[in-house]
Amino acid sequence: MTPHDLPEDLRLATRSPAQAAQDAIGRGGMDQIRICGGRPLRGEIRISGAKNAALPLMAASLLTDETLTLTGVPHLADITTLANLLAQHGVGFSMNGEGAVSDGREIALTAAIIDNTTAPYDLVRKMRASALVLGPLVARCGEARVSLPGGCAIGTRPLDLHIKGLQQLGAEVGLDNGYIEARAPKGLTGAEIAFPFVSVGATENLMMAACLAKGETRLVNAAREPEVADLAKCLIAMGADISGTGTDTIVVRGADRLHGAHHHIVADRIETGTYAMAVGVAGGNVELVGASLELIGVVADTLRAAGLELEATDRGFRVACEPGQLTGIDVMTEPYPGFPTDLQAQMMALVSVANGASMITETIFENRFMHVPELARMGANINLHGASAMIRGVPQLTGAPVMATDLRASVSLVLAGLAASGETTVGRVYHLDRGYERLEEKLSACGAEVERIKAAR
Ligand code: EPZ
Repeated sequence: MTPHDLPEDLRLATRSPAQAAQDAIGRGGMDQIRICGGRPLRGEIRISGAKNAALPLMAASLLTDETLTLTGVPHLADITTLANLLAQHGVGFSMNGEGAVSDGREIALTAAIIDNTTAPYDLVRKMRASALVLGPLVARCGEARVSLPGGCAIGTRPLDLHIKGLQQLGAEVGLDNGYIEARAPKGLTGAEIAFPFVSVGATENLMMAACLAKGETRLVNAAREPEVADLAKCLIAMGADISGTGTDTIVVRGADRLHGAHHHIVADRIETGTYAMAVGVAGGNVELVGASLELIGVVADTLRAAGLELEATDRGFRVACEPGQLTGIDVMTEPYPGFPTDLQAQMMALVSVANGASMITETIFENRFMHVPELARMGANINLHGASAMIRGVPQLTGAPVMATDLRASVSLVLAGLAASGETTVGRVYHLDRGYERLEEKLSACGAEVERIKAAR
């Protein structure tokens, strides 16, 4: 299987996976989103499958020569990028129904033969989650050559915990020309791996590798995110022996092989929180279908404390907020079950128009405040003090041309545009397309004046 053989919906007509990823950006990347603010949101929004579950789940297909079928796969640029990376490893893809269906795509992945164990820089640098092929490739093939992703807008984001964990499982791992070279010709052996701090990706990479290691592996201080639990649920369906997911200690008893499975991807709690906050900034009343209050955990309590009304329904939950109802609140990002860093930028847009002051502290990434100067250009009153931002709510933001810098910062600017008077245009939309499926459609269906402006081709 090569990228050319990918189903149309996953393929981008270029010669190489790296160019495909570039095309994903080029195809819609330089478009702009234009918002005319001041209109409340009313109606319903269907929540898609979680991007941060879909990516490790796709990587898990490398662990077996049988077919892994995923349903509820969102239409996102990151999914396309990873599909192109997996295809160049030899993974075969097929889709049930080529087109987009409202509740996500069904994609079957089959790594019958892995004929290439290198993950090239051009793809990995575009999407850091590509590093999730490292553990599965070493476990299945006994070797992997995965490019270091390099930093990204929100931080250096090293992979030292992934590397150290693989070494503890018995792999020889070195760095060569910007690539991680890992070898385990005799296979991996279970070990106790204690993480000095919580890492979602390291937990996922090493949990996948441990599934095919000899003996028992204990992951101590493991990530507890719902996406990690969803990956474990799928691995167990594939024949893995895993216990403790959702706690800080995950135990994996290695198997000789894994088999195929069917798995429906958990709903995206970050998309859910994002749209709930959209109702907060714009005002209105929207049912979020396919989500649940349990899934967003502490975020529900935070939003209620900020003045939003949240109420469970039999399809998800309803969010309501009237203008002037928002009050400032202090938030600190933490690993799950704490407040997620992926909702920090969106929360800042929300409290920018709340009554009173708020303090938002970012503890996960070292540079995740790039939305601050852009929000300030729209009239937000924000002062940075190291890892904390002090926000003093203002009665009204004003629309402006703004620039996105990373996935979540870009959506926080869209939220601010919904609240602002006048017109806001958000550039570099490729950031949005990485993590938000049909955002302008979902918002305009609820009454927002949002449109995508195609860049000149
Ligand atoms: C995952 O990234 C998510 N991505 C991120 O979502 C999310 O922000 C992050 O977890 C935290 O919840 C996916 O799941 C695909 P980490 P990941 O390893 O795994 C440092 C989004 O917007 N670290 O938990 O890369 C790291 O630099 C994205 O959807 C090391 O130092 O995050 C960070 O400061 C953004 N060494 C902290 O730990 C390592 O070996 C947490 O990172 C690994 C991580």
